Amino acid sequence: MLAGSVTVDTGSAAPYEVRVEPALDLASAVSHALRPGAGAILTDSSVGPLHADAVSAALADAGWEIPAVVTVPAGEASKSLAVYETVLRRLAAAGLPRDGTLFALGGGVVGDLGGFVASSYMRGINLVQLPTSLLAMVDSSVGGKVGLDLPEGKNLVGAFLQPRLVAANLDWLQTLPDRELSQGLAEVVKMGILSGGSFYDDLGEHLGAARGRDAEALQALILDSVRYKAAVVTEDEREAGLRAVLNYGHTIAHGLEAAAGYDLPHGEAVAVGMLAAARLSQSKLGPDLVETHEDLLRAAGLPLTVPSADVEAVLGAMGRDKKRRSSDGEGRYRFVLLEDIGRPVHGVPVTADEARSAIGSVLGP
Ligand SMILES: NC(=O)c1ccc[n+]([C@@H]2O[C@H](COP(=O)([O-])OP(=O)(O)OC[C@H]3O[C@@H](n4cnc5c(N)ncnc54)[C@H](O)[C@@H]3O)[C@@H](O)[C@H]2O)c1
Ligand SMILES: [Zn+2]
Repeated sequence: MLAGSVTVDTGSAAPYEVRVEPALDLASAVSHALRPGAGAILTDSSVGPLHADAVSAALADAGWEIPAVVTVPAGEASKSLAVYETVLRRLAAAGLPRDGTLFALGGGVVGDLGGFVASSYMRGINLVQLPTSLLAMVDSSVGGKVGLDLPEGKNLVGAFLQPRLVAANLDWLQTLPDRELSQGLAEVVKMGILSGGSFYDDLGEHLGAARGRDAEALQALILDSVRYKAAVVTEDEREAGLRAVLNYGHTIAHGLEAAAGYDLPHGEAVAVGMLAAARLSQSKLGPDLVETHEDLLRAAGLPLTVPSADVEAVLGAMGRDKKRRSSDGEGRYRFVLLEDIGRPVHGVPVTADEARSAIGSVLGP
C-alpha cells in the first residue's frame, strides 16, 4: 500500500492531515484526528449508493454513532439555500449534537454544501472532508472555502472553515466518470504549470497513467496539488494577492461558462482558458508555452477548443476592471499570465481586442 499524506497548517485553525491512499483505512485515519462521537454523513445521489455503506461501516468500526446519512441530489443545484435548509433540519431532527461531526462524502458540491452546513449548524461543528471526485481531492477540499450558490450567481454565500481531516480513498476514483476525471486533471495541470519544479515534471511523467486511473500516478499528482494549493492559500488565506494566481485560465473560462449558460464543464473551460492565456503570455511577455499546454491538455483528455460562442458575450461576462480604461475607452481585463513555467504574474492588463483574439483562438466550429 502507498502511504500518502500532507499536513496543512494555515495558522488560523488547528493543523490537519490530508490523507490520499488506495484502500484507505478510514477508521484509523479518523481515529487519529478525532475522538469518536456522533457524526452525520452528507452525500449525493450518485456517490451515496456506491460508497456510503462502506464509509458508515468504517466509522462504526472506529466507534462512531451515525444518527443520520443525508443524501442530496447529485449536481450543482444542491448548493442552494433550499437544500441547505433541508440538510440542517435533517441534522436537527436526528439530534446531531453541538460536538458532532459532519462527514462530507462526495465531490465539490457535497464538500462546499457540507462545509457550509458544518460552519453554521449550532454555530459550527467539526467537518471531515471525504472527497470522492478528483476535483474535490485536488482543489475544493483544500483551502477552507465553503458555500452555496444563489440564483444571482455561483458561490455568493459562504464561509471559511478548515476541516479536521481530509481523507481521500483513491479507490473511490474508480467509479468516477471519465469526463469528471478530466475536469479534475484540468486543475492539476493548472497547478503543475503554476508550480513548476518537480510538480511540473510529475505532470509529464504521470498524466497519462493518471488518466488510466493508475493509483500511484493519481496519488503523486494529488499530493503535489494539495501541497501546492495548501502552500498558496496558507501564504494568503484571505485572498489578498498570491491566491489570485490560482485563477490562471479562469478569466476566459468564467466568460465561456457564463456565455454557454453553464452547460460547459468547468475543467474544459479552464483547459481552453489556459491555452488562450498561454497565447496571451507569448504575445505580451515572450515565452512560447503554447505547444507545452497543448501536449498537457491532450494527455489529460481535455479539449483544445470549445463549441463556438458569441465572443462579445464571453467578454461581457468576464468582468472588466472598471477603474482602468484604455485609450479606446474599452475596459481592460486583468489576467494571470506566465513569464515561464513556474513563474506566473497576476494582474497583467489585457485590452478588449487582445482578449477577443485570445478567445477566438479557442473557439471551434
Ligand atoms: N471550495 C473551493 O475552494 C472550491 C474550489 C473549486 C471548486 N469548488 C466547487 O466544487 C464544485 C465542483 O466539484 P465537482 O467537480 O467535484 O462536482 P460534483 O460534486 O458535482 O461531482 C461531479 C459529479 O461526479 C459525481 N461523483 C463524484 N464522485 C464520484 C465517484 N467517486 N463515483 C461516481 N460519481 C462521483 C457526483 O455525484 C457528480 O455527479 C463546484 O460547485 C465548485 O464551485 C469549490
Ligand atoms: Zn477551477
